[in-house]
Amino acid sequence: MNNLEDLRGKTAIVTGAGQGMGRAVTAALAARGASIVVNDIDASAAQRTTSELAAGGAEAIAIAGSVAVQDDVQRLVNQSLERFESIDILVNNAGVLRPTPVPSISEAEWDLVVDVNLKGTFLCSQAVLPSMRQRGWGRIVNFSSTAGKNVSTVGGAHYTAAKAGILGFTRHLAKEVAADGITVNAVCPGLIDTEMVRATIDDERVRAYEASFPIPRLGRPDEVAELVAFLVSDRAAYITGASLDINGGDLMI
Ligand SMILES: NC(=O)c1ccc[n+]([C@@H]2O[C@H](COP(=O)([O-])OP(=O)(O)OC[C@H]3O[C@@H](n4cnc5c(N)ncnc54)[C@H](O)[C@@H]3O)[C@@H](O)[C@H]2O)c1
Repeated sequence: MNNLEDLRGKTAIVTGAGQGMGRAVTAALAARGASIVVNDIDASAAQRTTSELAAGGAEAIAIAGSVAVQDDVQRLVNQSLERFESIDILVNNAGVLRPTPVPSISEAEWDLVVDVNLKGTFLCSQAVLPSMRQRGWGRIVNFSSTAGKNVSTVGGAHYTAAKAGILGFTRHLAKEVAADGITVNAVCPGLIDTEMVRATIDDERVRAYEASFPIPRLGRPDEVAELVAFLVSDRAAYITGASLDINGGDLMI
């Protein structure tokens, strides 16, 4: 680790970090010295990740709650600031996916998918801005997807719409807060080997997708976490409003 990657003295909130890529992101940021706030709607999953981080010597707390509920988000930020001095990094990772075709999407399912992915990204970003502005330094990384640029591989149109919305929100917020020393970027993972994917498609479909990718395998959560760790570091100080692909060559636009 060089100085530009050193996150000691910084605090990161990672949403949806009870499993999958969020969990991998907490490990990558903790390895660089950041204190971690582990959020998840599943309290026991958040606690599990927090215990793993603490066992590795990191400073970490679990704060359960939904990113789609403003009161939960405000509590997440307030409790983070009671424990740590500032919030320097926000990783908007929480997301839900449903593979439903348009004719069968209920209003409730549309709202769930759009609220967790898109509104959650807005609510959490809005809530951390005062702390970041106070320090004149901040990093926000939003989880879009190849779905945001093309069409979801395994999810429905609500998921594609929400992930495309995240790209627009990322660009707009990046422009608003650039002068405050805050960068806002999106990552666009392809098919990554997490519970979300394994719960949605069977092994046979996984193998078929793998064979279709230029790098013929699923991505790993730790590979995406490395990209996030780069974006929150000082090495990425001049990158903002960007969306970075990490998809084994599946989509090149
Ligand atoms: N796995 C992929 O192939 C893939 C590809 C592109 C983008 N993504 C995106 O990456 C992010 C992480 O995906 P993953 O594959 O690790 O998913 P995952 O389902 O394995 O983990 C998501 C976590 O988010 C939590 N969560 C769900 N709703 C929440 C809410 N309202 N508030 C707080 N936490 C909530 C879940 O409990 C879970 O722990 C998501 O935004 C997803 O859409 C995933």
